[in-house]
Amino acid sequence: MYNVPKLEDYSAALDKAVNELLAAVETEAQAVADAKACEELRNRWMARKNGVLTQINDLWLKAAPGPNKRDVGQRVNQIRAKVEETIEATQQRIAGSSADARLKAEMIDISLPGIRRSLGVKHPVLKVLDDLIGVFVKMGYSIAEGPEVESDYYNFEALNFPPNHPARDTQDTLFIANQERRPQRDRLLLRTHTSPVQIRSMEKLKPPVRVICPGKVHRNDTPDATHYPVFHQIEGLCVDTNITFADLKGTLEHAMQSLFGSNVKTSFRPSFFPFTEPSVEVSISCPFCGGKGCRPCKQSGWIELLGAGMVDPNVYGFVGYDPAKLSGFAFGMGIERLAMMSYNVDDIQQFFYGDMRFLEQFA
Ligand code: PHE
Repeated sequence: MYNVPKLEDYSAALDKAVNELLAAVETEAQAVADAKACEELRNRWMARKNGVLTQINDLWLKAAPGPNKRDVGQRVNQIRAKVEETIEATQQRIAGSSADARLKAEMIDISLPGIRRSLGVKHPVLKVLDDLIGVFVKMGYSIAEGPEVESDYYNFEALNFPPNHPARDTQDTLFIANQERRPQRDRLLLRTHTSPVQIRSMEKLKPPVRVICPGKVHRNDTPDATHYPVFHQIEGLCVDTNITFADLKGTLEHAMQSLFGSNVKTSFRPSFFPFTEPSVEVSISCPFCGGKGCRPCKQSGWIELLGAGMVDPNVYGFVGYDPAKLSGFAFGMGIERLAMMSYNVDDIQQFFYGDMRFLEQFA
């Protein structure tokens, strides 16, 4: 480290001392690598008390004899300027490189691969629903929708379920609370089927009518492998002049064959719904065993899929259609049922858990 020498004379020795000092401050400055060393350098050279500049002031300038004072004074001023400049430059170098370091540490590496978020996939229930909608749209049906919170009138009364009729017991549901002051027909409930959209459609449209009504429905059912209190249905309604039961059969046979293949057979058995007469339960030949009998079809060779029938003339009375001129059919089917068949799923509850391990399989 540099030490200020005493001067032997004020010519050659002064020259030598000045050169050595300037070389020394340059070397020391170059060796500085961080802010702490920089501060030390500054103190060593520029501290008022005993800094190198103070020392040369004392040892060189003050000690110089009269005739040399002017010359030594100029040299000392030059040295001071040079030392200040060198230390200033060093401070800037250190500040700059620490800013560099900070930038480096804070830098976002935009070349890193991002977080991949997997694309969602269509829920299997929606897939089947969309497939089925496609089949009916090709046959000229349009899509109608109605509210999930429905009035007693649309869910029951206009569908020919009179108040207190026992047929209502088969479709128990949640009723909105505190509606006792309303007339029964206006009381709200979670719809138990998509059939109320039949009524809403006929109120809005003049015949001929061909609509399908997909949607969510609710029933007071205890969950098990084939029941869940929320599920989806698709309703169909066709009203025109001269619509017969044969049209119903042909339409449903075509729809089932579109979904399950052209070898599938349909079977119609008598049933009861208040809003269709006659009413039928429709089954298809088991697409798994071709009708021989297996576990999914409980060895019967048939799988029951939907309810249907010819629109009951009483229903036309509720919507101002003339039953003497018009006839039509309606059907309603559970989508989860179809999805279980299509994808070989053995528990309907899987559709509602939202478990990715299940849903991913349909990607
Ligand atoms: N709405 C009936 C149900 O949910 C099904 C159905 C619809 C029956 C249309 C006949 C006609 O059970």
